[in-house]
Amino acid sequence: MRILSISIFCLLLSLNSTKAQKPIYLDVNQPIEKRIENALSLMTLEEKVAMCHAQSKFCSKGVPRLGIPEVWMTDGPHGIREEVFWDEWSGAKWTNDSCTAFPALTCLAASFNPEVSHLYGKSIGEEARYRNKSVLLGPGVNIYRTPLNGRNFEYMGEDPYLSSRMVVPYVQGVQENGVAACVKHFALNNQEKERFTVNVEASDRALYEIYLPAFKAAVLEGKAWSIMGSYNQFRGQHCCHNDLLLNRILKSDWKFDGVVISDWGGTHDSDQSVNNGLDLEMGTWTDGLTTKGTSSYSSYYLANPFLQGLKSGKYNEKLLNDKVSRLLRMIFRTTMNTDRPYGKFISPEHSEAARKIAEQGIVLLRNEHQTLPIPVGKYKRIAVIGENATRSLVIGGGSSSLKVAYEVSPLEGLTKKYGIETIVYSKGYSSEITENNAKSKLAADSLIQAAVEVVRNADAVIFIGGLNKNYFQDSEGDDRKSLALPYEQDRLINALLTANKNLAVLICSGNAVEMPWLSKIPALAQVWYLGSEAGNAIANILSGEVNPSGKLPFSFPKKLEDNAAISFGKISYPGDGKKEEYKEDILVGYRWFDTKKITPLFPFGFGMSYTTFEMTKAITDKTIFTSDDVIKLVVNVKNTGKMKGSEVVQAYISEIKPTVLRPLKELKAFSKIMLDAGEVKQVELNLPVKDWAFYDEKATGWKINPGRYTINIGTSSSDIRQRVNVQIKK
Ligand code: BGC
Repeated sequence: MRILSISIFCLLLSLNSTKAQKPIYLDVNQPIEKRIENALSLMTLEEKVAMCHAQSKFCSKGVPRLGIPEVWMTDGPHGIREEVFWDEWSGAKWTNDSCTAFPALTCLAASFNPEVSHLYGKSIGEEARYRNKSVLLGPGVNIYRTPLNGRNFEYMGEDPYLSSRMVVPYVQGVQENGVAACVKHFALNNQEKERFTVNVEASDRALYEIYLPAFKAAVLEGKAWSIMGSYNQFRGQHCCHNDLLLNRILKSDWKFDGVVISDWGGTHDSDQSVNNGLDLEMGTWTDGLTTKGTSSYSSYYLANPFLQGLKSGKYNEKLLNDKVSRLLRMIFRTTMNTDRPYGKFISPEHSEAARKIAEQGIVLLRNEHQTLPIPVGKYKRIAVIGENATRSLVIGGGSSSLKVAYEVSPLEGLTKKYGIETIVYSKGYSSEITENNAKSKLAADSLIQAAVEVVRNADAVIFIGGLNKNYFQDSEGDDRKSLALPYEQDRLINALLTANKNLAVLICSGNAVEMPWLSKIPALAQVWYLGSEAGNAIANILSGEVNPSGKLPFSFPKKLEDNAAISFGKISYPGDGKKEEYKEDILVGYRWFDTKKITPLFPFGFGMSYTTFEMTKAITDKTIFTSDDVIKLVVNVKNTGKMKGSEVVQAYISEIKPTVLRPLKELKAFSKIMLDAGEVKQVELNLPVKDWAFYDEKATGWKINPGRYTINIGTSSSDIRQRVNVQIKK
């Protein structure tokens, strides 16, 4: 007994002493800044430098001696990328890394629903956490500048306000899991063509009013823990080490305390990387584990050249300590956060989330004679045509390509919904036929002919086409070559119409496409890339079990030259090989169409429902405001149809007599509400007047002119139902 109590006493003593010896950096009860300071004081110069660059394709070094873990990163932004080999892009063939694919970010933006964005962030963050990643390389918030950009599908559309409202909850949702969101690509990375070299020249107004707001919101409101520099140059300096963007705007003006990570291979210079705000260099080059040659990890710009420069006194250690502090801060917030949840992977909740996001983002663009919905049992025979009805749309597209646990194709979803005896399928076109020769024409003709035969005997036709994730489509690395649908889909659609006019067209894409057949088809929906639950979401919308409520996050031009950037010629897009001038300036997207009075094919914010809505009695709490006020606007919305549905109330402001060029309208508030048939709700929108400012280039700051403004309330940028005039006084 005595021996036992002595040993218990000794054990307690030893536990106590271990506790007392715990170094500050490991003590989670200590303030993070103190832990950082302590860890830094224990590290050698070599250990610190080793943290500032990659040690493999997706991971950077920790400090093994001190138990400080490596940083593991993953793409992003639609699901967790498969594991790859240490030094390579290719998959490592693990069998436990097949993820849930969530819809592409264009679809998320089209939901116009910040709550759904939070659900997205939380769910994908859980998957990242489960897979033990510290950093999720996403979301992407580069502005949709032209419909040719191969990566638009990874972004949140053309409007800085919409993308700002949508990015914040995504970032917060991810980070609730103790996983850092890495908001990308900072900044002005609006095309893939010549992305590594193009030097963007844009005015301060375009920069601050259009291209930076979503990043700013992600940093200041979302409190993002990391950000990714982009490949392109801005004003002559690569964005991964751009003094203006990283030091002055991000770190000084916005007080960003997280890590700037380079895009993979976006670093080009040691001096600039050291001095201009880059913290972690990734993907510069690799040549295998065994090589100690000139292109191994130790030769990165922030590796040996950095170390030598520090030793010789060329670089100040303060700069190194700042970088390492940021990395440690991120590690303490993520991997070394002992409170972080455990995450979840391919859970039923994630499937549910993916489906819900998809359903909220599908946009109904045309519906003559109530062609849609098609209730189950309405028709005996429904023809489904098009390669995208069966093709995987989560594979390809570059770094966002996913290895998924499952993907319900549109054909599978529709077959499950309507029954195998109702659905009949024909491919209609093939992405394999790309040659322009007689043999290919014959192959295309026979696919068309077969599809026409199938639709001839059907009661209704659902065509599922659009783009895909191939190179020169919706894909990283280059841009689309034209606005038109590829693979002779226009010819196919026209041929189908000759045999059956009851045709609904579904476009899978992350970009606007040309639609020469639009007036001839009765129904059209934009269905994006919807991920694992694509088929189920599409079937729920088409059958009417779910009422569509998505709104376009970018304008569809009638023809390519109607797009602002493209209308100014090569120097404005894609650039002259060296430089690219953003000549349209602040008039991006609907700001251009509105101001220049060009009618788009479909305007920003547009999307129909199976029911109808009426908006009346918009009023503000006062009529005269100061720039510090938050205007409260209320408007009555009534569901005037027969089906429950959601509408997005959108408020755009116009300055009546601006002193500088201002777009005719700018989105400054929106709210998505659900109404039962016949129900009326009063919707309240809050409009902080400070958000109405323009960037005054002369004064280098934001400015609100006193005077008259109109708040336009509507259901899209061109369907304004109510107007309220207000006065802003000095
Ligand atoms: C892409 C990034 C991506 C990174 C890692 C780059 O090519 O531009 O968005 O996160 O690769 O895969």
